[in-house]
Amino acid sequence: MHESMLVFRKRRYLWVALTMSFVAIAAYWLHDPQEPPNGGTALGYTLGTVATLLIVWLAWFGVRKRRYSSTLGSVQGWLSAHVYFGIALVLIALLHSGFQFGINVHTLAFVLMMLVVLSGLYGVYVYLKIPQRVSENRKGTSRAELVSQLEDIDSRSQRVAQGLSDEFQELTASAASRTQLGGSLWSRLSGRDESQVVIKADGQTGVVPNPGQEAVLDWLADQQSRSSDAEVAAAIGELSALTRNKRRLLRQMKEDIRLQATLEAWLYLHVPLTAALLVALVTHIVTVFLYW
Ligand code: HEM
Ligand code: HEM
Repeated sequence: MHESMLVFRKRRYLWVALTMSFVAIAAYWLHDPQEPPNGGTALGYTLGTVATLLIVWLAWFGVRKRRYSSTLGSVQGWLSAHVYFGIALVLIALLHSGFQFGINVHTLAFVLMMLVVLSGLYGVYVYLKIPQRVSENRKGTSRAELVSQLEDIDSRSQRVAQGLSDEFQELTASAASRTQLGGSLWSRLSGRDESQVVIKADGQTGVVPNPGQEAVLDWLADQQSRSSDAEVAAAIGELSALTRNKRRLLRQMKEDIRLQATLEAWLYLHVPLTAALLVALVTHIVTVFLYW
């Protein structure tokens, strides 16, 4: 879907946006107001109205996206138009203001609009770049398959631990149940590993952080160096190998989660900034009619 976002129907909406921009520039060029160009001239009002209609239509996309039964064209077509019209909007708003800015609510509306547009551009960049990286990282497997591989490693570890003392069984059971994946948007984006494990050391049992399964691997290495029984040492070696596999798999899954989170994170700017823009815009229009 994302690849075709920009080239939808031979870039039909790019041409519409370019035409709109060209007409606006020509009008600005030809218009000869008795004052410096600004939002209060006839052309200023016209361009302001066009810009406002565009913003309302762009904001409507959030509603449109969720109405699958609508017959008003495909979401893909809307998205393609959304991108090109959103960029043309910058020019139209600039021409509307006559390139005049100040410390006022009008300029605040403009700044918010620019932030929405910039976050949108970043969103397009992300949509074009990330899907490829997701499939490279997954190496032909699906997320569900990664999850079942992880479950498989955990149950094999527990089977191996059954042949060892209680401490090993507690270790593998707690390492499995306390492995942390996902969480808040922030922890998905940062990829921080908050896994823990219950470990018995020096006669004391405690919960310790286990990022990258390091605590488990260290403990197993320690136990192996102390073990004099060849069979036990071999079983511990097997547990270590399984844990290293688990570490590799967890890294892959974390990257998958991080990439997915990147795909949605920018919308947490785009959408609230849109709301702020609408408030500033209404204030702009109301104050202009009250005080101009
Ligand atoms: C129906 C819609 C609109 C109307 C009637 C309108 C009206 C006006 C008027 C009368 C002015 C001149 C006021 C002044 O210079 O102090 C103005 C300026 C301005 N407008 Fe609008 N506007 C509309 C939409 C927009 C939109 C969509 C934006 C951009 C988000 C925008 C941004 C600005 C900016 C940046 C200025 C210049 C402020 C300055 O001179 O410091 N306006 N507008
Ligand atoms: C002032 C201008 C704009 C407004 C008010 C606006 C508003 C919105 C809204 C409300 C959504 C729906 C998000 C949701 O509900 O999930 C959306 C989606 C989107 N916007 Fe914008 N937008 C603007 C400009 C732009 C620009 C210039 C671009 C790109 C260059 C862009 C790229 C996108 C993309 C790619 C989505 C799709 C998100 C998805 O479907 O996952 N937007 N926009």
